[in-house]
Amino acid sequence: MKKKWLIGNWKMHGNLASNKALIEGIRAELPEPDPRAELVVCPAFPYLYQLKDLTAGTGIYVGAQNASDHLQGAYTGETSPLMIKELGGSFTIIGHSERRQYQGENDGLMGRKSLAAIDAGLIPVICVGETAEERDSGRTHEVLARQLDAAFGYIRTAHDKIILAYEPRWAIGTGIAATPEIVQAEHEFLRQRIAIRDKEFAARLPIIYGGSVKAANAISLFSMPDVDGGLIGSAALNATEFVAIYRELLQTIPADEAA
Ligand code: 13P
Repeated sequence: MKKKWLIGNWKMHGNLASNKALIEGIRAELPEPDPRAELVVCPAFPYLYQLKDLTAGTGIYVGAQNASDHLQGAYTGETSPLMIKELGGSFTIIGHSERRQYQGENDGLMGRKSLAAIDAGLIPVICVGETAEERDSGRTHEVLARQLDAAFGYIRTAHDKIILAYEPRWAIGTGIAATPEIVQAEHEFLRQRIAIRDKEFAARLPIIYGGSVKAANAISLFSMPDVDGGLIGSAALNATEFVAIYRELLQTIPADEAA
């Protein structure tokens, strides 16, 4: 059975006390994640080690929000994926649109970062997505294809070592999620494009959606056939809401699918 994924991107929020309260809150509402749907939280870099401790033995995984495209060297201010791994991370978000927007990251860098993450033993959560202007001018597929090809040109296929996230920029932090129909159409487009390279890989690749997901809209988005979970921003900072989204995700798994 193909696993589902719920990944919380905490962005530049949190401190020692609030991180602890958030994990304790999640655990109080959800003593144990269901093995059919993995739960991942991505704190800011300085808190990775704290999260390693807080999540030990809980079944909750930890990821970073970014990683260098190098494993080590004279790259001031950068964080190696090997360091993330050593501090307890198993995942790293790559190419988030906020990094494209504010840090000038481009498609090529995203590809190199994904490769370095895989080399270090992390699972990259590779983000793609169009802006409102790109969608309005009918260029969504052109943009998604370009971003996808840049990332996968470097890594080709790496079975079970990659998660793809569709995050349309216009839906991030706006409170207006993409409609389930749009999300399904774009996930299908992405999966078909990957199938050109490797059909089996495309069928197994988890493609998750991010952008204003909350408990109230989660089930309609997660029920779409090509949606394998969610990448959650602001709603991941509230334990009750995050667990409620997780429970909605579980509801989309057919009852006859064994763990
Ligand atoms: P929001 O859920 O706050 O819209 O953020 C989504 C996101 O950027 C997750 O990476």
